Amino acid sequence: MSFRLQPAAPARPNRCQLFGPASNTKLFAKMAASAADVINIDLEDSVAPSDKEMARANAIEAINSIDWGKKTLSVRINSLDTPYWYRDVVDLLEQAGERLDQIMIPKVGCAEDIYAVDALVTAIEAAKGRKKRIAFEVIIESAAGIAHVEAIAAASPRLEAMSLGAADFAASMGMQTTGIGGTQENYYMMHEGQKHWSDPWHWAQAAIVAACRTHGVLPVDGPFGDFSDDEGYIAQAKRSATLGMVGKWAIHPKQIGLANDVFTPSEDAVSEAREILAAMEQAKANGEGATVYKGRLVDIASIKQAEVIVAQAELIASS
Ligand code: COA
Ligand code: MG
Repeated sequence: MSFRLQPAAPARPNRCQLFGPASNTKLFAKMAASAADVINIDLEDSVAPSDKEMARANAIEAINSIDWGKKTLSVRINSLDTPYWYRDVVDLLEQAGERLDQIMIPKVGCAEDIYAVDALVTAIEAAKGRKKRIAFEVIIESAAGIAHVEAIAAASPRLEAMSLGAADFAASMGMQTTGIGGTQENYYMMHEGQKHWSDPWHWAQAAIVAACRTHGVLPVDGPFGDFSDDEGYIAQAKRSATLGMVGKWAIHPKQIGLANDVFTPSEDAVSEAREILAAMEQAKANGEGATVYKGRLVDIASIKQAEVIVAQAELIASS
């Protein structure tokens, strides 16, 4: 480890973030009753420009009147290139009660985007005597966002989570893709006359995970648009989990169970991790730095990987 230690990410479950447009009030109670860890009420791209004011008022009413249980409650505001975002922040911070946990800032391109929102939020919190500090989450969904991802991850102590938004990201990068996330028809290699599809999101995901882990932020995989394709969703979520992401968005309730399954470590994985930790304890007692578990080398690095799995399982069990 560097002398500068890697800070821990917030200790809360973030396996699934369920979105719903703030213009569609009949979804709120269903969202609150769902099995998602995080709720994102959307003021941004699922709300038409003519509905922005109505949606903002709906969101505030829902935050104040619905029982959201123990969920992390977040509102996605409009991006900083629009005329809507400042009013989103002002009205939410002035009119929504302390139940609001988090604001999601979309399309961030640089650390200063977060600085601007932070300055406004900080002033309103002080003026209104709000007791709970509002947290931030951001979406990396542009070329600038991924180019400046490390500075963005470090931009504010309020920042708790960072998602990859595949569709806007692809558009900003000029990628020839269709669909929101997942396999892309033209991203393949040839081997012995067969096509083998690869993952065009891999680099952006890994960059986000590295920035997040450096600065104690939760890395999250964003939306998967085709909600009739469970297999495609599961494959994408498993790749994200393998790379170190902690959860994935749901844009339809049927995706919630899929995300929870993938991002909850399986009983087998947890018991294997516990056995590895026990094997290493035994090795340590014997004065050895490494040992063999089921024919494989396990050492200090294996302990850390096993501890990640056990810590995730314990966090989920206690939530
Ligand atoms: N949260 C909670 N419940 C939802 C929901 C959501 N996001 N989306 C749909 N449902 C409910 C429906 O109300 C319906 O409930 P019912 O059985 O009581 O009638 C049930 O789930 C089945 O819905 P379905 O008919 O399959 O979908 P739909 O046509 O009503 O809605 C979408 C489809 C895509 C328009 C809708 O899921 C949606 O708005 N998703 C969120 C989009 C969003 O927020 N995008 C921004 C982030 S990318
Ligand atoms: Mg987007």
